[in-house]
Amino acid sequence: MSLTDHSDGTAAQTDRDRDDPMVRVEGLKKHFPIYEGILQQRAGEVRAVDGVSFDIAEGETLGLVGESGSGKTTTGRSMLRLTEPTAGTVEIDGQDVVDLSDDELKKFRRNMQIVHQDPTSSLNPRHRVKSIIEAPLKIHDYGDADERLERIEELLEMVDLPREFLYRHPGQLSGGQKQRVGIARAVALNPKFVVLDEPTSALDVSVQARIVDILENIQDEYGITYLFITHDLSLLRNVADRIGVMYLGRLVEVGDVDSVFETPEHPYSRALLSAISTVSQADERAKPDRQNVEGEIPDPREKPSGCAFRSRCPYAFDACSGDEPGMYEMGEDQVARCYLHDDEYEEGPDW
Ligand SMILES: Nc1ncnc2c1ncn2[C@@H]1O[C@H](COP(=O)(O)OP(=O)(O)OP(=O)(O)O)[C@@H](O)[C@H]1O
Ligand SMILES: [Mg+2]
Repeated sequence: MSLTDHSDGTAAQTDRDRDDPMVRVEGLKKHFPIYEGILQQRAGEVRAVDGVSFDIAEGETLGLVGESGSGKTTTGRSMLRLTEPTAGTVEIDGQDVVDLSDDELKKFRRNMQIVHQDPTSSLNPRHRVKSIIEAPLKIHDYGDADERLERIEELLEMVDLPREFLYRHPGQLSGGQKQRVGIARAVALNPKFVVLDEPTSALDVSVQARIVDILENIQDEYGITYLFITHDLSLLRNVADRIGVMYLGRLVEVGDVDSVFETPEHPYSRALLSAISTVSQADERAKPDRQNVEGEIPDPREKPSGCAFRSRCPYAFDACSGDEPGMYEMGEDQVARCYLHDDEYEEGPDW
């Protein structure tokens, strides 16, 4: 029994089908109610994700980056309906996911999976590796016991774990080994789309590169589409095809990886880039001077009006406190939400 390969073998970056993306997100919102006082009355809401739109082509990796609290995880979880979106549409392989009934959603889950940040809490400590990886195969009626075992062995090989690990418990594995099991489980049914939510952040630096390698090999083999969430922009240099930069529940810049690294067009992207220490020499030369972004990301309940970044932005001027800027097109595949790119106000930013 084998699972078919989604890619047609010609998934070179330039051939990616932009008009018919694998993932299409439009106006996605997730607002969490806030309850206060002893009566736990509704006192407001946190707009964790507040109108996010992007596409991901088949076999492509979109990196989603931003500080803690910017809404990355909530975006990923809302897309997979692990938390119910407040508004918006999410299409995966042409299917409107938000519209699915509970039964339909259960069936569709084989197409969309997640790898969590913390491999320890995401694996049941009482189960052996074999039954952890087997769970999704069973739920989705994959073959008989022998066929499932064959598939599990294939998956272990794919994540570079020896066969003996079948009968170990998570407690007997290192962090990196646990994360490999989590990856094997996520890709067991050859999903079309996988959210990688900080898949290496809980691991030692020495192990991180190996996990990224494994994820890339799996993507090459199966043509899986990834949303790679991280707060570490430098990690995305070699992993992502495109990058989305999030700030307080909104995308502020989206572009192909080279453009975002070489010519970041939003002051927030520039600030994130200027803080990176491990970049190539060419990137080091292109890297923005250290940006003075002051203070912490604001409490999302007290989001500044206009451009939400203006309270920390070294370039903020009058217009930024008016309406929120729209997305300005900067190049073939780069947009930035910043008035510095509006001809009405400026000649262009003087970085
Ligand atoms: N279940 C929840 N109830 C209320 N607020 C929540 C809930 N989950 C997340 N939030 C809030 O939504 C905002 C976005 O959180 P989210 O976890 O998506 O951010 P993140 O970018 O993934 O951050 P990190 O880098 O720390 O993982 C934060 O202000 C967070 O406190
Ligand atoms: Mg998160």
